[in-house]
Amino acid sequence: AVLVVGGFATFIAVSFLSADLDTRGEVAFDRPLAVPPLAGSRVEGDGTRVFTLRMQRGRSDFGASRPTPTWGFDGDYLGPTLRAEIGEKVRVEVTNAVGETSTVHWHGMHLPPEMDGGPHQPIAHGATWKPHWTIDQPASTLWYHPHPHGQTAAHVRRGLAGMFLLDDPAAKTHDGTLPRTYGVDDVPLIVQDVSLEDDGRLVETPSLLSSIGLLGDTVLVNGTPGPYVDVTAERTRFRVLNASSARTYTFVFSDGREFHQVATDGGLVPSPVPLRDLVLSPGERAEIVVGMTAGERTVLRSAPTPDRLGPRNRLAGDEDHLDVLELRAATRLSASAPLPRRLAPAPDVDPGDAVRTRRFSVGSQTINGRRMDMDRIDAQVEAGSTEIWDLSSDDGGPHNFHVHDVQFRVLDVGGEKPVAALHGWKDTVLVRPGRDVRVAVRFNLPPGAAGDDGAPYMFHCHLLRHEDSGAMGQFVVVPPGQGTDDETSPAPAT
Ligand code: C2O
Ligand code: CU
Repeated sequence: AVLVVGGFATFIAVSFLSADLDTRGEVAFDRPLAVPPLAGSRVEGDGTRVFTLRMQRGRSDFGASRPTPTWGFDGDYLGPTLRAEIGEKVRVEVTNAVGETSTVHWHGMHLPPEMDGGPHQPIAHGATWKPHWTIDQPASTLWYHPHPHGQTAAHVRRGLAGMFLLDDPAAKTHDGTLPRTYGVDDVPLIVQDVSLEDDGRLVETPSLLSSIGLLGDTVLVNGTPGPYVDVTAERTRFRVLNASSARTYTFVFSDGREFHQVATDGGLVPSPVPLRDLVLSPGERAEIVVGMTAGERTVLRSAPTPDRLGPRNRLAGDEDHLDVLELRAATRLSASAPLPRRLAPAPDVDPGDAVRTRRFSVGSQTINGRRMDMDRIDAQVEAGSTEIWDLSSDDGGPHNFHVHDVQFRVLDVGGEKPVAALHGWKDTVLVRPGRDVRVAVRFNLPPGAAGDDGAPYMFHCHLLRHEDSGAMGQFVVVPPGQGTDDETSPAPAT
């Protein structure tokens, strides 16, 4: 019966040809992909859009013999998708009911430091935290997750993560022709790898041999193991978030098909980028548009690091193919508009404006040889100024680098122009050993920011074990003229 479907037969053939790489065995793809619900909200008299989130414990069926104890926002695992428009005032009322102090960080959001949800904004069990800010950045796919000092990997892995989508009502000419019906032809994919104990519990302790952190053998997409998605349109936009604690994915389709990247972490790219593979390290997002014809099937999977990058760029755990999601096109597809040729202006940060260059050398427990200290400020940057940050690996291993509050422009990678997939706004970037990454960052003050006496923002490795072990530093945005070079100073009392 399966052979009557041409696309599926192709999939079998391709799988057979690469069978020697498929050491993880077959993924059944027998569960429909869950799609996180859109969060409800109310709008107050002054126009503030208010969301509520409750961090709670639950149980999830990940295919083990018994349910897996998990955490979620408003549910058993992961959280609803928050959605707001550029210029809107928002408030999120977050109640912690997980039994441990945690935080909620708005990854990629430009907002005042005391609203950021990093380690300086703890939410005790039973407490409600009510951060508020004005959305002031391009349309993009952001996300939220806990950030308690030393506990981020555990809290994220247990399931506390969700998407935060920003829409630009004024930019309909570009964004408006991309697929945009949530859950139909605009589908979030939160990709995580986990391992399960025999009794269903999540494995929480990385092997002593793994410096990178925990690499799981089960891939969950939106919390669904072995998922398939029914594709109903000629073109589908997938908003892919790598919410894994350690694994970097090289996403490909099993039939090698081309797809287009339309957005990076912080918004649309200048024009659609044709790709056959897409590398995403933990914390990074990409929006891709995939075309399908009626009745065909293909599998989104992670491929080994291409050999052209050399053995040092092999990433732990990526020596095998890892199946992620099967796409099943319906026998009749709704028509989709062609991809727009132009999407958004290129990031307008000019490295020629940079007032200083800072170097950050990332290890598995340190940045520039120092471990994270909540009472130390590692960099004071000037409001409105542009800096170049030069990012490298300290220890011969891969890391990645995330900066809170800002979106930056990647200038070069290993001394070469970045690939087109890095041409948009970024807040997290993979740093492979021996291939330094230079980025240009402009530190605009968010509306309502205190400026010089707020809490610090974080920068860190987003391999969560490294972040938790101390590969993190703190910066504050100070008035023009008061910035300092790469020297440390005591943190302001918060
Ligand atoms: Cu996604 Cu500081 O984190
Ligand atoms: Cu790291």
